[in-house]
Formats: sequence, structure tokens, C-alpha cells
Amino acid sequence: MARSSFIRTALILCPFLALTTGQNTSSSADGSSHSATPTTADAEWSTTVAGTPTKFRSIFTIPASADDGANLLPNIEDPKAVNAQDICPGYKVSQVQEDEHGLTAVLTLAGKPCNAYGNDIKVLNLKVEYQAANRLVINISPANIDASNSSWYIVPEDLIPRPKPDSTYGDIDLEFDWDDEPSFWFSVTRYSTGDVLFTTEDTTLVYEDQFIEFVSALPEDYNLYGLGERIHGLRLNHNLTATIYAADAGDPIDRNIYGSHPFYLDTRYFKTGYSGGGSEHESYSHGVYLRNLHGQEVQLQPESITWRTLGGSIDLFFFDGPTQAEVTKQYQTSAIGLPAMQQYWGFGYHQCRWGYRNWTELREIINTFRDFDIPLETIWVDIDYMDQYRDFTLDPFTYPPSGVKEFFDKLHEDGQHFIPIVDSAIYIPNPNNASDAYDTYTRGNESGVFMTNPDGSQYIGAVWPGYTVFPDWMSASGVQWWVNEMVEWYKEVPYDGFWIDMSEVSSFCIGSCGTGNVTMNPVHPPFALPGEEGNVIYDYPEGFNITNATEAASASSASSSQAAKTSTSVTVTSSTSTSYLRTIPTPGVRNVGHPPYVISNVQGDLAVHAVSPNATHANGVQEYDVHNVWGHQILNATYQGLLKVFPGKRPFIIGRSTFAGSGKWTGHWGGDNASKWYYMYFSIPQALSFSLFGIPMFGVDTCGFNGNTDYELCSRWMQLSAFFPFYRNHNVLSALAQEPYRWESVASATRTAMHIRYSLLPYMYTLFYKAHTTGSTVMRALAWEFPNEPQLAGVDTQFLLGPSILVTPVLEPQVDTVKGVFPGIIDGEVWYDWYTQEKVRAKAGVNTTIDAPLGHIPIFVRGGSVLPLQEPGYTTRESRKNPWGLIVALSEDGDAKGELYIDDGESLEPSGTLEITFRAGDGKLKADVKGSYKDANALGNVTILGVDSIGKVKLNGKSIDGAEYDEDTRVLKLDLKDVTSCGAWQGSWTLSWE
Ligand SMILES: *[C@@H]1O[C@H](CO)[C@@H](O)[C@H](O)[C@H]1NC(C)=O
Ligand SMILES: *[C@@H]1O[C@H](CO)[C@@H](O)[C@H](O)[C@H]1NC(C)=O
Repeated sequence: MARSSFIRTALILCPFLALTTGQNTSSSADGSSHSATPTTADAEWSTTVAGTPTKFRSIFTIPASADDGANLLPNIEDPKAVNAQDICPGYKVSQVQEDEHGLTAVLTLAGKPCNAYGNDIKVLNLKVEYQAANRLVINISPANIDASNSSWYIVPEDLIPRPKPDSTYGDIDLEFDWDDEPSFWFSVTRYSTGDVLFTTEDTTLVYEDQFIEFVSALPEDYNLYGLGERIHGLRLNHNLTATIYAADAGDPIDRNIYGSHPFYLDTRYFKTGYSGGGSEHESYSHGVYLRNLHGQEVQLQPESITWRTLGGSIDLFFFDGPTQAEVTKQYQTSAIGLPAMQQYWGFGYHQCRWGYRNWTELREIINTFRDFDIPLETIWVDIDYMDQYRDFTLDPFTYPPSGVKEFFDKLHEDGQHFIPIVDSAIYIPNPNNASDAYDTYTRGNESGVFMTNPDGSQYIGAVWPGYTVFPDWMSASGVQWWVNEMVEWYKEVPYDGFWIDMSEVSSFCIGSCGTGNVTMNPVHPPFALPGEEGNVIYDYPEGFNITNATEAASASSASSSQAAKTSTSVTVTSSTSTSYLRTIPTPGVRNVGHPPYVISNVQGDLAVHAVSPNATHANGVQEYDVHNVWGHQILNATYQGLLKVFPGKRPFIIGRSTFAGSGKWTGHWGGDNASKWYYMYFSIPQALSFSLFGIPMFGVDTCGFNGNTDYELCSRWMQLSAFFPFYRNHNVLSALAQEPYRWESVASATRTAMHIRYSLLPYMYTLFYKAHTTGSTVMRALAWEFPNEPQLAGVDTQFLLGPSILVTPVLEPQVDTVKGVFPGIIDGEVWYDWYTQEKVRAKAGVNTTIDAPLGHIPIFVRGGSVLPLQEPGYTTRESRKNPWGLIVALSEDGDAKGELYIDDGESLEPSGTLEITFRAGDGKLKADVKGSYKDANALGNVTILGVDSIGKVKLNGKSIDGAEYDEDTRVLKLDLKDVTSCGAWQGSWTLSWE
């Protein structure tokens, strides 16, 4: 190893007196001196929370049958179901009027109504608009909306914005065509390539009050992405029923879960005919968005897509791309809005669990993180903190108000944060018990902010606290009431943001089950909580029997004896005599409870585990028509509340149920996953899908929510999630504790990964700024950055953080290598190993075996990148006071570029910002500094990778000392702390090494 040093000449970059930078990190404690042992004692946790008056729960338990819906068979599984395509007449076209911006026409039912799954609409309006250079919209709506027939819910623009035509635009690459032989059909073609993107030719448009269906052909081997929310691989398979109906369902695979995103990305690869040694393909991508709020079912088949909705209109937007990045930007900037900018601290590490029992325990958790030298930015509490699970309260015994000041003074003084869960339903107090009064309810009730039954009485469902009511975001005062509750509660509990749960909106019974029963409140939910009534968790990750053989054996015998005890109560019902509820259309009337078409909903009946479709809003709208946006609206209300609590600051919200556009207010976590290796894998495609949906602030319950985790899974997962924007460990009640310090191996793996994450925070923050201002993505699929490699189209076991960091995690137990591809090598891309800083020697297009023992997550830096870094502190507040750093990873040609965005980290409209652009080439790195934000931190380590030759190292033409060059690894290292001691970004500069 050859090292050369350079002449020592001091250089002061800024003209004024050097400031002392005062960098100090508190990350000096040696965590290895602690011995972390797996805790099994925690398995004994029960839900009899110390002090909480849980005894009330035995008074009355809602019977499980209260949540049983009608016995329904989804149409797609029903052999008796008619195919609307076979029996419906379609439409004929008349009164066509065309101009340069599109066309309008009238569609008239072409025959006898089929009334397949609703009442056929006889006359429709077609309106096609070329709205912008990259956007085409096809709108088909009923021509005569009969006021006496409330069947039509057309999405209001103030609820879900509708893209407006640009006043001027250039040539659009999309072409709309239509014909009406044998009945109306349309197509959208990419003009420049002649590729048909969407065509309903040879299919029939079905348009009824409770059922709309249109079908398009797709090419063989199509690549579609999106249509969420769903636990599925990134690329949607070709035999998938993608239901879109917000459901409180703990992450079942391939089914509809919390969010509704009727959007897909379609990428098509073509051979270029080029064979000069580089890639021989190119790709074109476009996006399709159906602006419709109803329950939907998008059926993917080998060569077609069938889109069905239970009402509303066809409002179908096409975005022409032609790259994924362009499609995503077009979708966000014109249709759904750009994602919220996050506060800097949001990128620190978050710890949560269901089962943190009191202020003391919470403080101990925080202290233990510090003892183990594992950064903790934010402590989260689940429903344990509430008084009998009521929003905007504290449990008077376990989280007494008297403990607030001490807890928060210390927390905030240490630069740490607190996020409480807040549920969507509001407890309705027992009218026979004056001491049960609940002010949040009283104020809401007086302002008329709760949803009703069709007869005007209050709709009363059930959630954690017992019988509950549900805020009506369409009522005149709903948002204002919620904002006020947030403001008032902040005076008692100085929280730092909100975690919104149960917002699908979930209810544990069918219909208004509390009507007439409120005098029994509070009541217990219709199922046992984890740990309650022998509901013990015996589940472990795959491979646990190998890593923890003894515990595995005892868990398995306990589990089977438990099963033996309970098996007698299992009743086997004969399935041969099952009869299903099938409804038929009634002229002029909708059946919102049981629509004739049964979508493949994970909960079956639309009313199961959710507020029922007939619940009614103040404006008369039924939940049937707007179910999918309840969760979106509470996020808006919460955003307004946080703006009021923290004027001028960026609201921090993590929400469960999202809709297209929720990203402008919120981040999202992946919901109730389990401590299984496959859920760790699914976190990647789920995150990448949320990149497409414009919600980049995404992460999952690291180490797994349901079930017990183990050290192997938790080590791998803590390392993987360190490269997700939202980084949180969360655990279910009564499972084994899983804070990363519980096992030495996990603690150590976590410190390693967190050190990288916190070093990269300036890079992450800059990516978010770009996402917030341009609609670019943060977590990226390999296919998006390398669009000419068709073999990457389905890759979701690896991902990129921004353009420059490649993450190749281990996703299976009991291995110490992982296979991964190095994309772009065919076109000359270079990758550097994060740890060794050397160029990776890998072949193009093949899976490379990479060493990955437990505790090591393979990370690679893309050649051509400049990564802004900062020395990690214990918290982000401390990190922000530390010296900057740079990694300059040169491309094959010796070039690199990058960006750094800096502001105060919290203001919605920062008074000053800095934008620094880095360009490297010809043995020089230029930093171009623009903006007025004051940052006095020095530039510390600069590491240049792939340096083939060096001469004198100079900063702004003056030689500097201390450079170290390693000829073997080709790494040049500098420490510029002394010469930039008054601030790295006081002005533009040039560093040269040739
Ligand atoms: C498609 O999926 C359904 C439901 O999972 C299954 O029954 C059917 O066999 C699949 N068809 C094909 C062609 O794979
Ligand atoms: C907090 O909870 C822990 C765990 O149950 C218990 O040991 C402790 O006594 C509780 N402390 C207080 C002050 O309630």
C-alpha cells in the first residue's frame, strides 16, 4: 500500500475570522461493554396493563358475530355470474365535435339494457381533452344526472383535484382514436412509436349506476406497476385481481389493504437493433390514473386489463412519460400533488411498540438506547397511553398528566421527539354514567361532526374503546373540531407529530351496532387482544428452529398443547350447503349495502370491519361513494391541526389509509406485517409502489409487527430499513421485545447501518427536497434508473436510494452471501463497495454472489456520483452541527455530479436555503454554492473513489496538506476541516488533484 502525503500549507477558505466549529458527537460510548441477552421474560406481558382499569372490559364483549357479513361470493369466483361483456349492448356515438384540444360526443345505449350489475345508463357524454404536452384525459359521465335518483356521485374538484388543461402546450405524443363498430371503443396510441397503449377494441363498454366496466388489451409479457395498496411483488403478475377498497386488514398477500391508488405505470421494452456491445433495448413508460373513489376491481389477465368500479364516472388520465421518472413527475405535478417536505428529524430512527406501559418504562427504553449507543430520535406510543383507548387523553394511572413535564422536558432537551398513535373513531360515553363523560365527544356532538345513519340518527360502530362514532370530514365543522382537539390536547401533551391509525375507516362490527347499546359502554372489542385470554403468540420467523433450537422446541410444544386445548371449540361447517347472497338491480334504486356486483374484497361484505356503505355524511353523500377517501381526509384534517399547533412548521404525520395525493400531507407505514422473512422482502416492493404513488416517506414495522422476531431476522431487517426514508421498529402487544439492543448481534448490526444512514442524511434530505419540488422519487427500482435493461423489469430484491446508492440486502435466513446484479455495467457503469471503497468487479447482466455475513448489508455507490455526508451525531440535531463530508465516486470517464440542499430543517417556507451543485471531472471537483442560509460547519472528510493519477492537491489553487492516496484501492482521502473551519459553503470552491 503506497501512501503519499502532501505539503502542509494552511488555507483559509473564507475571508473572515474562522469560527470554532465545536464538533462533538456523543457517540463515543462503547456499546460492546454491555451484554445484551435475548429477553424472554417479555413474553409474559399481558394486556392487564398495570393500573389501567381493564376490568371494565369483562363487562360486555361485543359478540364476534357482530362483525359477520352476508355470505358473498366474489363475482370473479362465481361460476353462476354473468359476464357483462357477453350480454351488454355497448354504446353508439353521435354528435361528435372535434377541435385541436380534443372532442366531445354523445354515447347512446346501443340496444336493450342488460342491467347486468346495475341500471344501464342510456345516454353518456364523452369528453376527450389533450390537456397538456404530456397528458390526455378521457371522461365518460352520465348525460342526465337525474336529481330524483341520487345514484351519481361525481368526484368534486375540491375533494380530489382534477388536472386542468394547460393554456398552452406543445405536441403531445398521445393520440386518441375511436370507432363504434360494432359498438363504441377507443384507443390511445403513442404517436412517435405507433404503439397502442390502451384499446377497448373488441370489448364492450358497460355503464350502469353500480357497475362500470371497460377492458383494454395489453401486450404479451406486459410490465405493470402500482394499483395499490397491496402486498405483492413490484411488477404485477398477469393473473391478479387488484381490488381497490380501503380495508383494515393486516397485510394479507395480494389482497386489498389500507390505501387506494387507482394508478398504474406501464413500461414497454423494444429492441433497438443496436449491437455495439451496450444494451440493445430501450423502454417507454406511460401512466394511467382513474380518478374515481368507488370500490374497484382491476383484473389483470395474460393479455388484458379489465377495470370495474361500483359507481362514479370514467375519468381516465394518460401520462406519456416516456420514462418512469417523467410519468411519476407528471402524475404528481398535474394530478395528485407533490409530496410533503419532511422535517429533518423525521429521518432519524423511530422506536415504537404496542405495550410500552408507562412514562417510566418509556424513559427506560430511551435511556437504554443511549446506553447501547444506538441513536434514537423519536419514541412512539401505541394505544397504551390513552385513557381507555380514547383519543386526546392520557391514562390517569400509567401515563398520568403529572408525569408529562418531567418526561417531555428531558426528551426535548435531548433533541428527541414523541409521536402518539391517534385513532380515527371517537368513543361515545355511556349516557347512564356521568363519570364517563368525554369532552372530545361532547364538543363534536354539539358541532354535528359525526356521521349518521340514513335516518339521521348517529352512526355508532365499535373500535378499541368500545362503541364509537366517526368524524364526518364533509360536515361543516368536522375539520375545525379536529383541529381544535389537537390544539387543546397539545397544551397537555406536547407531541411532535401524529400517527393516524384505523382510518379505512375501521369499525369492528357491521352497521350501527352501538345503536341502543351505548348504555353498555365501555365494551370490549369482539376478539381477544394479543396476550389476552390465552391468546399467546407462539409464532417465530422461519429458521428460528435452527438459530434458537431450544426455545423453538418449547414454543412448539406449548403451541401444540394450546391448540389441543382449543381445538374442541372449533366447529366444522359443511361447505356443500353454502348459500350465497346474490342481489339483482332494482330500477332507479341502488343497493349500496350489497351491490349486485361483488368485488373481491378481503373482508367480503363491504360492511365488515369498516363503517358500512350506508353511513351518511352531512352533505347527504353515502359512505359507499367516498369510502376510499376517509383516510385521506383525516390526514388533511390532521395536517391542518399540526399547522395550527406548530405555525410555519412542516407537519409530521404517518398515516395508514391513503388515497392518490395523500403524500402532500403524510408519510405511510406498511401496516400490520409479521416477523417473517417474506414480509421483510415485501417491504421493498411496497416502498417502491409508494414511490410511484407520490408517498416517498415510507417504511415498515422493522423486525415485524405480528409474531415474535429473532436476532437473525431483526439484524437483517434493522440494516435494511436503515435505507428506507421512514425508519421505525414496531411490535405487537405481548410479543417478545425487539428493540435493537435486546441482542448484541442486532445492536451491532444496527449501529453499523445507522452510522451509514446518519452519514447519508444530507443526501436523503436533498432527495426529499427534490421529491417535494419536482416529483422525483427517493427509493427507486433498478428498472427506473436503468431503463434499457429489460431483465431488471421485475427486480425488487434490491433497490436504489436516490440515483446513487444500491442496496442488496439479505432476505433469507441462514445464509452469508447474497446474489445481486450490478445494473448498467453493460453501458459502462461503475460501482464501488461502500465499505472497501474499491471498484466492484462484476459482469454485466449476471447475478453476482456478494459476501454478506450477519451484520453486513451490501451497499454500493454508483460511479459518477457526489454524495454529501455529515458526521453522525446521536440525534439529527447533533448531526447537523457536525462537519460535512463528501464521497466523490468517479465514473469510468472520471466524472461525477451531485447536489446538496440545506435549510433550517423544519420551516414550511425557510427564510434561507443553500443549494450546492457538485461537478467533478478532469481531476477537479467544483462546488457551486447558491443561497443565503447560514451554515458554519466545516468540510471534513472528502473521499474520492476511482482516482487513477494524482498530482498536487489544491483547494482554490492553494496546495493543501494531509491528503492520502492509496494506489491499490485508487482512493484519495482528504480532511479539509482546518482549511474550511469557518464553513464549507461560505462560497463556491474548486478542489483539484491532478
Ligand atoms: C389465476 O389465479 C386464480 C386465483 O388465484 C387461480 O385459481 C387460477 O388458477 C389462476 N390462473 C392461472 C392461469 O394461473
Ligand atoms: C411501569 O411499568 C413497569 C412494567 O410493567 C412496572 O414494572 C413499573 O412498576 C411501572 N411503573 C410505574 C411507575 O407505574
